[in-house]
Amino acid sequence: MKAGQSVFATVSNFLSERFPVEHMNFQHMVEKKDVPVHNMSWGYYTGGLTLFFLMVQVVTGLFLLFYYQPTVSDAHLSVEFINKHVAGGALIRNMHTWSASCMIFFAMLHLLTSFAMKAFEKPRELTWIFGVLLLFLTFTFGFTGYLLPWNQIAVNATKVGLQSVEAVGEYLPGALSQLPHILRETFQGEASVGQSTLGRFYALHVVLLPLALLGLISLHLLSVQLHGMSRGVDQPTKKSERFFPFFIFKDLSLWSIVFLLLLILAWCIPFDSFLPYPLLAPYNALGSTPAGIKPEWYFYFLYYPLEMLPFWLILLATGLAVLVLIFTPWIFKGTSRKTLGLITVLASLYLVVMTVFGEQIYHMVKP
Ligand code: HEM
Repeated sequence: MKAGQSVFATVSNFLSERFPVEHMNFQHMVEKKDVPVHNMSWGYYTGGLTLFFLMVQVVTGLFLLFYYQPTVSDAHLSVEFINKHVAGGALIRNMHTWSASCMIFFAMLHLLTSFAMKAFEKPRELTWIFGVLLLFLTFTFGFTGYLLPWNQIAVNATKVGLQSVEAVGEYLPGALSQLPHILRETFQGEASVGQSTLGRFYALHVVLLPLALLGLISLHLLSVQLHGMSRGVDQPTKKSERFFPFFIFKDLSLWSIVFLLLLILAWCIPFDSFLPYPLLAPYNALGSTPAGIKPEWYFYFLYYPLEMLPFWLILLATGLAVLVLIFTPWIFKGTSRKTLGLITVLASLYLVVMTVFGEQIYHMVKP
């Protein structure tokens, strides 16, 4: 803040630099936009691919809504009905589950490439922060969607997840320590995971989260179009290509190929065949908690460390990681792209090792 400047003027200057409304026209946002060409240019396609999978989620999710019943008595039966008796139902369901995983994968890759290319630099700080919030929302979609088929493992995994939320309260000071308990009560809605929980997760998954996502995506994409693409590399590149029609054409071609791959995948390999439990075993409140409850693969990076290390340590590390992610534009302001690249490689290695070998490491540490 400059001396003599009011807080209001500082905030309004900050916002007008991040959202230069004078650039809000077709000519600036589309016709004149250029995309730099360099050896990291492939990173510019990762946001578009995340967007593509999001669109697949919306369309397939709407079809699923025609038949899905959000009640503990019918949820599982309705999913079974979609799988076995609705024409194309199994394919649509498979596309929804495969595409959910792809969306999370590409959102994470997009974060890593944006970080390595230093795309968070001024004036793109808010573009980055909206992106971080979008990633958190995407994870919440995964968490809430997991419960909807109401099978034994999903209900039990949700119970464990909500208990972990509550446990955070023990490590927070003063009034803050009540927050996780309130959150758990709000999401759970009753003494144990049951009808109220299913209803609330359903409302979150199909109404509240999509609305929040729509708002954030609009702001994210608007800021991207207003500022154009970041240069991505240290040396100013001499080569660039027109966003319209060349980059958009390549983007759409890539989307078509990916759509075909997704269709083949969903057709040939039911996503459920990778799950360590039969989907068609409905939840039974009197049944025993199945052995080896695990969340979806995209939570392994958090889940296996939680199983191996003290809870407080993981909580501290996660809290710090979230803060670092949000404040990245200021923390790494003066960091060179070479160093950012190195941090990206290390972070990617951690994610890949925990996701692919987390279980083996866990059995080695706790035989
Ligand atoms: C639902 C999730 C998301 C969608 C649909 C999405 C979509 C997009 C699209 C279409 C672009 C323009 C093309 C590109 O540069 O790749 C973009 C750019 C960008 N995104 Fe995202 N994004 C998402 C999440 C994220 C996340 C998690 C981050 C990082 C925290 C992020 C940070 C950025 C940044 C900094 C840019 C500007 C890139 C540049 O100017 O070079 N986004 N996003």
